[in-house]
Amino acid sequence: MLQLIVLFAFLLTFSFTDLLRSEENPNAKFAGISKCGSSGCHGNAKLGNQMAKWEDSGHGKATTDLGTKKAKEYAAKLKIADPMKSDLCMSCHVTAHGVPEDRLLETFTGDQGVECEMCHGAGSLYLEAHKKKDRNQADLVAKGLRPLKTDKEIKDNCMQCHGAAEKWEKIKASGHSKLDKTPFDEALKKTKHPLPKT
Ligand code: HEC
Ligand code: HEC
Ligand code: HEC
Repeated sequence: MLQLIVLFAFLLTFSFTDLLRSEENPNAKFAGISKCGSSGCHGNAKLGNQMAKWEDSGHGKATTDLGTKKAKEYAAKLKIADPMKSDLCMSCHVTAHGVPEDRLLETFTGDQGVECEMCHGAGSLYLEAHKKKDRNQADLVAKGLRPLKTDKEIKDNCMQCHGAAEKWEKIKASGHSKLDKTPFDEALKKTKHPLPKT
């Protein structure tokens, strides 16, 4: 039994670590969307309201979509009883799936879809530091902020889910929509949420 638990824990960690970059700070915890998108922060028009853009992007409903009739139909074709409990489905549809409990803050609820931290890195350590005027990018990256500056960094990030060939092999028989249905450049444009130009 113990061996089974160890194996299971390993599999969970493994299925998540393929979504983590080596530079990720292992002490950074996931804080949840409420810490990023409040009206005083990224929910504010003065800052560009990234929150509203994220809600429009589809990523905001990635988790709740696993509860739809369609999700159940996909899952049934793969003999998965409940997509909301399937590691395979959750690995792309839920932020921080498989991450040990001690890396989740109480404010993180796990039903928030592909939220900010799934792309930008777990926020607990850079949250305060990145609000400062004299912030330093290298310091923020050391605290867990994922660099998303170069085209490659950005594309690699998206392709963890949208280009996941191995996982696609496992789900394509379900009738699941193609992961790269929208061409990359168009998809990136659709989801853009920049800071206002100063
Ligand atoms: C490799 C990552 C990945 C896995 C694994 C995955 N999904 Fe998805 N899912 C996506 C992406 C990306 C989209 C958006 C595709 C699009 O419409 O362009 C999506 C869209 C969806 C949608 C909404 C669009 C539609 O086709 O109706 C549902 C429902 C869904 N997935 C259910 C599931 C279920 C159920 C599983 C498990 C059997 C699953 N997904 C596994 C990445 C994944
Ligand atoms: C699907 C991945 C993804 C999600 C989810 C996401 N972002 Fe981003 N974000 C990016 C990428 C990629 C860039 C850089 C885009 C570019 O430069 O073309 C970016 C850029 C930004 C920027 C601009 C940074 C700068 O220096 O100009 C801010 C601010 C930001 N995101 C905040 C957020 C917030 C807040 C959320 C959640 C509400 C969020 N992001 C959700 C991928 C994501
Ligand atoms: C953690 C996995 C993951 C990452 C990383 C990710 N996505 Fe997604 N994306 C999804 C899922 C899951 C959906 C489906 C949400 C739904 O409809 O339920 C989705 C939906 C979308 C959609 C809407 C469907 C479509 O094809 O029109 C776009 C556009 C998109 N993603 C673009 C991007 C871009 C651009 C990036 C990188 C900046 C990115 N995604 C990173 C998982 C991811």
